Amino acid sequence: MDLGLTDRTYLVTGATRGLGFATARALVDDGANVVISGRTEESAARAAASLGERALGVAADNAAADTPARLVAAARDRFGRLDGVLISVGGPPPGTAADNTDEQWQAAFESVFLGAVRLARTAAAELDEGGVIGFVLSGSVYEPIAGLTVSNGLRPGLAGFAKSLANEVGPRGIRVLGVLPGRIGTDRMTQLDALSGDPEGSRARNSAAIPLGRYGTPAEFGRVAAFLLSPAASYVTGVMVPVDGGARHGF
Ligand SMILES: NC(=O)c1ccc[n+]([C@@H]2O[C@H](COP(=O)([O-])OP(=O)(O)OC[C@H]3O[C@@H](n4cnc5c(N)ncnc54)[C@H](OP(=O)(O)O)[C@@H]3O)[C@@H](O)[C@H]2O)c1
Repeated sequence: MDLGLTDRTYLVTGATRGLGFATARALVDDGANVVISGRTEESAARAAASLGERALGVAADNAAADTPARLVAAARDRFGRLDGVLISVGGPPPGTAADNTDEQWQAAFESVFLGAVRLARTAAAELDEGGVIGFVLSGSVYEPIAGLTVSNGLRPGLAGFAKSLANEVGPRGIRVLGVLPGRIGTDRMTQLDALSGDPEGSRARNSAAIPLGRYGTPAEFGRVAAFLLSPAASYVTGVMVPVDGGARHGF
């Protein structure tokens, strides 16, 4: 199947590593151009270099108010067009309802929540018919995850924002959706498994609770996200798509 990605241009934030990078890789492999971001020039340049000529790396913090305009301008300057955006970012801090501080909630709100809202709003104003806005969220949209209270608080709200935006921009032919990783083997997941003091035991217990019996690979996530961003998924909008090996308990 031809995904129709050739020469289209996507912004992928939080893409120097992990799920964002894996999605950028899948997009580039199918002929798209990408502008990828991370918080430092060094990380952005290194990741872009590993993707080749179809990638441009830009240092931009999702928490900064000028990030959306800078990234859109970079896409237009380098590749002359913008067809879609995937918003990923570093995950919120772990903790319980009792432990997480106001400062942690505020910092996560700025980078994870408001940063995503700003990027999506800017993209919605810039994109033409056929454009797409994707959010990398979490299984916590549907089921709270023990020890990730800030994620449990913020992600369902972002899913509600995404659904609202999908309704608003659908008449212009723009799609909006979420991609919900369960447990994909990235740096973030390694850090979370290490919190227990027994990383291997934690991974084994978590894997046993997944119907497919293992963590996903970043490439498995990236292929699904790239498909959803592609013209091949032109009738998919307003939905949250789990990529979790069957871990979600409901339908
Ligand atoms: N991995 C999973 O299975 C899983 C499951 C559920 C939810 N998620 C969520 O999915 C998202 C991506 O996860 P991941 O596993 O790819 O995480 P990761 O391996 O920690 O990678 C995070 C990426 O985001 C960048 N980043 C961090 N803070 C940023 C900021 N403020 N502005 C711009 N870029 C920033 C990092 O680059 P620099 O360090 O270069 O800035 C890096 O490229 C996270 O929000 C995570 O909570 C992941």
